[in-house]
Amino acid sequence: MDTRPDPTGASALSSHLANGLVGHEILIERLLIALLTGGHLLVEGPPGLAKTRAVKWLSDAVEGSFARIQCTPDLMPSDLTGTPVYKPQDGSFEFVRGPVFHNLVLVDEINRAPPKVQSALLEAMAEHQVTAGNETHALPDPFLVVATQNPIEHDGTFPLPEAQLDRFLLHVMLDLPDLETERQILDLVEAETQSGASAVQVLTLQELAAARDSVRAVHLAPELRDYIVRLVFATREGPQAADIDHAVSPRGSLALAAAARARAYLQGRDYALPEDVAAVAGDALAHRLVLSWRAVADGRRSRDVVADVVDAVHPL
Ligand SMILES: Nc1ncnc2c1ncn2[C@@H]1O[C@H](COP(=O)(O)OP(=O)(O)OP(=O)(O)O)[C@@H](O)[C@H]1O
Ligand SMILES: [Mg+2]
Repeated sequence: MDTRPDPTGASALSSHLANGLVGHEILIERLLIALLTGGHLLVEGPPGLAKTRAVKWLSDAVEGSFARIQCTPDLMPSDLTGTPVYKPQDGSFEFVRGPVFHNLVLVDEINRAPPKVQSALLEAMAEHQVTAGNETHALPDPFLVVATQNPIEHDGTFPLPEAQLDRFLLHVMLDLPDLETERQILDLVEAETQSGASAVQVLTLQELAAARDSVRAVHLAPELRDYIVRLVFATREGPQAADIDHAVSPRGSLALAAAARARAYLQGRDYALPEDVAAVAGDALAHRLVLSWRAVADGRRSRDVVADVVDAVHPL
């Protein structure tokens, strides 16, 4: 009997997104991994790289509700989560839900929101609920946050503390396109402006739930679990750990396992391979560690250190 998972819906979604996003293969894969695992995604890159467009395309293609929150320094937690509103008729309070109560939430420029807003959001992300007064309100399922941040803006921004970065399953970095890609973007977007792009739904919530079940069932062999744990452990002890002040927490192992499962599923396998783990290690781990000041002074980046860890730790 053929027990391979059937990622037809997810593949259709992936090719649909590829039609609208030139050269963003990694971003598309990461968006799908987040969607399939119930994790959240932080996307970092200069302005104008189609971050908003990617999330908009995803929200059009997957059944469910969508909201976009533009962060500014004067944003209040309740602008996001909602507010109890007084009802003079009977003197009671009714909770009016904020924009976080949607299936897919795009939080633009999260590092421009003040720390109180960031922590309210990250709490909602981790707990899938919002507490207001004595009441807790469950967020919808699925609930996926895609937050963007812009690396070149430093004035008036509040960098996310490491403890909060840890709440994101993956941190994707985007680079400016090459010449050929730039040309294709111009052609695509201009053609669209003339013809008018239309929204198509590719995946229903029922199909998504089934895909998520298959992802959870993807087999992680004991050797592969050891591999994941050894990778994470190498950020705490060993040659690479010398560059690291704060190592990856167990949340990192869990994230790596979940992302590797989803990647295996997207490749049509019901078992994960070391290559799945290695492929997602940078995006799953780099944002969870803090380098030593000496490593930073040497111009090292967390990603370089994770790449060294992946080179140094052998899968079997
Ligand atoms: N790789 C790409 N594929 C398709 N369109 C692209 C691509 N890169 C940029 N664009 C186009 O560039 C424009 C800017 O995109 P968008 O507004 O999504 O960028 P952004 O990353 O959200 O920018 P900002 O950080 O300023 O919010 C859009 O018209 C988008 O269609
Ligand atoms: Mg944008």
